[in-house]
Amino acid sequence: MPKIMNAAVVRCGIGKSHMTAFQKVPEHFSLAAICDIDPLRTQATADELRVPKVYTSLDDLCADPAIDVIDLATPPHLHLAQIQQVLAAGKHVICEKPLVASLKDVDALVEVERASGRRILPVFQYRYGHGLQKLKFLHDRGLAGKHYTTNIETSWRRRDDYYAVAWRGKWKTELGGCCLTHAIHAHDILTYICGPVKRLFARCTTRVNPVEVEDCAAITFELHDGSLAGSTVTLGCADEVSRHRFVFENFTAESNTRPYDSPGDPWKFAADTPALQQEIDATLLEFKPDLEHYAGQFVRFHRALSDGTELPTTLEDAYHSLEMITAIYHSSETDQPIDLPLPKNHPNYSGWTPARYRR
Ligand SMILES: NC(=O)c1ccc[n+]([C@@H]2O[C@H](COP(=O)([O-])OP(=O)(O)OC[C@H]3O[C@@H](n4cnc5c(N)ncnc54)[C@H](O)[C@@H]3O)[C@@H](O)[C@H]2O)c1
Repeated sequence: MPKIMNAAVVRCGIGKSHMTAFQKVPEHFSLAAICDIDPLRTQATADELRVPKVYTSLDDLCADPAIDVIDLATPPHLHLAQIQQVLAAGKHVICEKPLVASLKDVDALVEVERASGRRILPVFQYRYGHGLQKLKFLHDRGLAGKHYTTNIETSWRRRDDYYAVAWRGKWKTELGGCCLTHAIHAHDILTYICGPVKRLFARCTTRVNPVEVEDCAAITFELHDGSLAGSTVTLGCADEVSRHRFVFENFTAESNTRPYDSPGDPWKFAADTPALQQEIDATLLEFKPDLEHYAGQFVRFHRALSDGTELPTTLEDAYHSLEMITAIYHSSETDQPIDLPLPKNHPNYSGWTPARYRR
């Protein structure tokens, strides 16, 4: 029986979903503590979720010898220093997206993680929806054939109330807009299934909200497998939708359109011929659903730590995700297509913030 790990979650925004996810898998994790700088909010959350320990400082939480893993659901600009602090305290770290502020920071974390003997889990919880996992299952079995195109839509709604939180909407603290904060999962899903991007062209603009960062974008991707993809992103959509439509030689895979659960069931798998449809339907009968969302990612993390196997998501995944972001912002700023992988001497290796917002 693997050890039940004592987990602590920092911050009570989206962090609350992390807390309930840990509580869904009590055979793997015990939610032992939560931490937020606001004592009233933290205590209210602890009372509601019956969490035994409350901290108002990360220093104090890190000093608690009972905690095995600290989950950072904190604003993006704080991630790097907090990850380093948690590792230095001898604990594993789970961290929300975007992991850090540059490719250079990810490379630095590779060394810090290795030296610490502890692990970093970058959050990509959208990967674990059952519909998307079914596509992964079919794709890994070689049933997809040649990949032709993918359509990606992230049409969400964010207005004044969302941007009333001080760190949002600013390059210095949010580190980016809808491409970084909202469509990061949608683009990760593209490469999770189809592999790395070879070249992209992006246009980013701010049309919906009075903020520094972009809230609308359109991106075209050419992948290493030769396929093409198009993504539109907006935060001005009254009727929110998330959508993926993958067109392969043998079938088309279409997600549901629930904005925050499009990787979940149901997905439509429409085959090119009746014989292929039979094969796909028969193969899907063998699909064994595992846990979804945050709980799904946390359980896979626990299994990997227990078995000494590859983590469900790694610093390499975070690097590729942030490399796409770096290329998207550079393309939009320079009005040029960008080839990937980016060289380590790329001008934006140390940060993707457009030049006019750097201070
Ligand atoms: N993986 C995902 O799907 C996902 C979703 C949302 C956010 N995130 C990431 O999680 C991190 C944290 O984002 P967040 O949106 O939870 O931010 P946050 O921690 O600032 O929480 C935002 C919400 O919690 C309230 N809040 C938080 N701390 C508070 C405090 N100390 N006092 C009073 N109110 C407080 C705010 O008013 C707001 O409603 C960011 O890196 C973000 O990008 C990831």
